[in-house]
Amino acid sequence: MSAGAAPVSSPLLLAVLGHPVAHSLSPTMHEAALAAAGLPGRYIACDVEPAGLAEALRGLRALGFAGCNVTVPLKEAAARLASVRSAEVERTGSANTLALEPDGGLRADTTDGRGLLAALREEAGFEAVGRRVVVLGAGGAARGIAGALSAAGAREVAVANRTLARAQALATALGDRVRPLALEMDALAPALATADLLVQATTVGMGTDALAVPAAALEALPPAAIVCDIVYAPPETALMRAARRAGHPVVGGLGMLAWQAALAWELWFQRTGPVAVLREAAERALAARTAAAEGGMH
Ligand SMILES: NC(=O)c1ccc[n+]([C@@H]2O[C@H](COP(=O)([O-])OP(=O)(O)OC[C@H]3O[C@@H](n4cnc5c(N)ncnc54)[C@H](OP(=O)(O)O)[C@@H]3O)[C@@H](O)[C@H]2O)c1
Repeated sequence: MSAGAAPVSSPLLLAVLGHPVAHSLSPTMHEAALAAAGLPGRYIACDVEPAGLAEALRGLRALGFAGCNVTVPLKEAAARLASVRSAEVERTGSANTLALEPDGGLRADTTDGRGLLAALREEAGFEAVGRRVVVLGAGGAARGIAGALSAAGAREVAVANRTLARAQALATALGDRVRPLALEMDALAPALATADLLVQATTVGMGTDALAVPAAALEALPPAAIVCDIVYAPPETALMRAARRAGHPVVGGLGMLAWQAALAWELWFQRTGPVAVLREAAERALAARTAAAEGGMH
């Protein structure tokens, strides 16, 4: 280091904490992005249960980590532990990105919802202002998505969930423009009939051809409505195939995955991460997993 230069922790250390976390694509994605940006660094996955999160964060700080992502089931606990929260973390009670500040502070942001909005803008030219949206699911991801949509000026966000009480709690937390619905065709049909966007944010369709709603739900949508499935494994879900067949513009989960990672860089490095690199790394890792699984079947 030249005399007078700012001290740089070298290499940069980052992590994703979750339980389970072995399946996470984040290490592969962020290490590819760090290499592409010329930042020497490592990004590792650590299995941490909610009761151990505070201690794990103290450990990361002691080891010189700059920050981390947190995933299921730690997002709410991470929001609670933070000393500085973005407005979106305050609103949704959920964080997926933490920065370990040199002064001991713990800064939290949530990038899932904004990541989806960025992907929808990039891939389908969608802007949320004044739009009506139906979100399927009321779990962690749906929470961030509904929060980002309403913050971005959506006219109505109908949240349909198998457990209605969770959709109701989400609507109570997020305010008037978020409306709870049962995940049933009778309740959904009127909301679908005026929707500009359908976001599938349940776990249904992960690794299977199952649908969270009957394919007939797509017929209730206006023909120009965008259908987005945030599930990214497989990259093309059964819902996406059905929506394409019905002529809808379709957006998959890989764009959101890449953008939520790129936006995490803003908290750590004050710049957006390289989205194309992050996405390519995720696509390559998923293709390798599929090939390995198919190889294992022979
Ligand atoms: N593309 C991305 O960047 C990205 C980011 C985050 C998450 N995701 C994906 O989003 C999905 C949801 O993740 P999450 O973190 O929100 O999960 P989560 O917090 O566990 O929530 C799961 C949601 O799925 C619903 N659900 C589960 N099984 C169902 C079934 N058989 N029928 C109907 N609904 C069902 C749950 O309904 P109940 O409340 O009734 O249980 C709940 O709304 C996952 O597939 C995840 O991989 C993608």
